[in-house]
Amino acid sequence: MDVVVFDNVTKIFGGLKAIKALDNTSFRIPSRVVAGLLGPNGSGKTTSFKLIMGFLKPNSGKIFVFGMDPWVNEYSVRRRIGYLPEKPVYPYVSVYKFLRHIGRMQGVSSNEVEMFIKLVGLERYKFINIRGLSRGYLQRLGLAQALIGDPELLLLDEPTANLDPLSRKQILELIKDLKKELGITIIVATHILPELQEVADYLVYINRGRVIESGKLEDLTHRYFVHAYYYIETNEPRKLASKIIMEEYVKAIEVRDNGLLIKINSAYKDDLLELLTSSKISVYVKNIRHVTTELGELYEKLSRAS
Ligand SMILES: Nc1ncnc2c1ncn2[C@@H]1O[C@H](COP(=O)(O)OP(=O)(O)OP(=O)(O)O)[C@@H](O)[C@H]1O
Ligand SMILES: [Mg+2]
Repeated sequence: MDVVVFDNVTKIFGGLKAIKALDNTSFRIPSRVVAGLLGPNGSGKTTSFKLIMGFLKPNSGKIFVFGMDPWVNEYSVRRRIGYLPEKPVYPYVSVYKFLRHIGRMQGVSSNEVEMFIKLVGLERYKFINIRGLSRGYLQRLGLAQALIGDPELLLLDEPTANLDPLSRKQILELIKDLKKELGITIIVATHILPELQEVADYLVYINRGRVIESGKLEDLTHRYFVHAYYYIETNEPRKLASKIIMEEYVKAIEVRDNGLLIKINSAYKDDLLELLTSSKISVYVKNIRHVTTELGELYEKLSRAS
């Protein structure tokens, strides 16, 4: 089932100089993906999140979250969502007191709250007043707050804004783990591509309130002939590497224990598949799968399309 559905949604702000934040927008987010909601500043990402949470009412069109209208069923919808807002507002109490309070509202034990504090790396700051946290640690607090209560859907608005490279990496690892271990649906709104490179498997590209493209990252990669990394599983990676390295379309190759990581333009994927099953290669290939895409290249092509 699709967790989120936007069906021709328009959201207009303001009076005289009205701004169409969303303009007849349609997209859907399937269950259990990590979706990137990607678009430049002012394209409607945060507005989309506020509509999903039922904080805003669309001017026209329909929105379904878990099959419900979030404007009508705001509490039933919000109960199942963890939301990291773009500009969170926190009370001036200690980290622990604040998260314990969130936990109580969600019926979550203090042990579990401690677990989330550890998960986001806030242990050392547990008894510090929120006012004293650096921006990066505030971001971690926001993540902990969003995770408490076992949400089925996580909305992360610029989750690595303000983070140094190491913290950014840790937060992205955390998102990956959440996907693997909890199997929840995650939507990451961002205009920073490297955020998505490692984690996203689904993409909604939005520009000036309009959805230009959406779908599985792998499908978009093919549609726009973008370079991508594929993993070829085989028992004889070295032998296979020596046989395909001569192909002009193979841009990079890395030998791993149980296979090869290769970079090709996805336009050549069929050629590669053909080669792998041909008699020229006498190596048994177990499996080939898409790993990640050169998102910068895809972004450029999508921008040109919009
Ligand atoms: N409360 C509001 N009142 C008036 N205009 C608004 C309001 N909220 C958003 N907008 C306008 O709607 C448009 C979309 O804004 P939104 O915050 O959704 O963009 P965004 O994609 O999240 O951008 P960013 O990457 O900068 O966070 C912008 O033109 C913005 O100025
Ligand atoms: Mg925003």
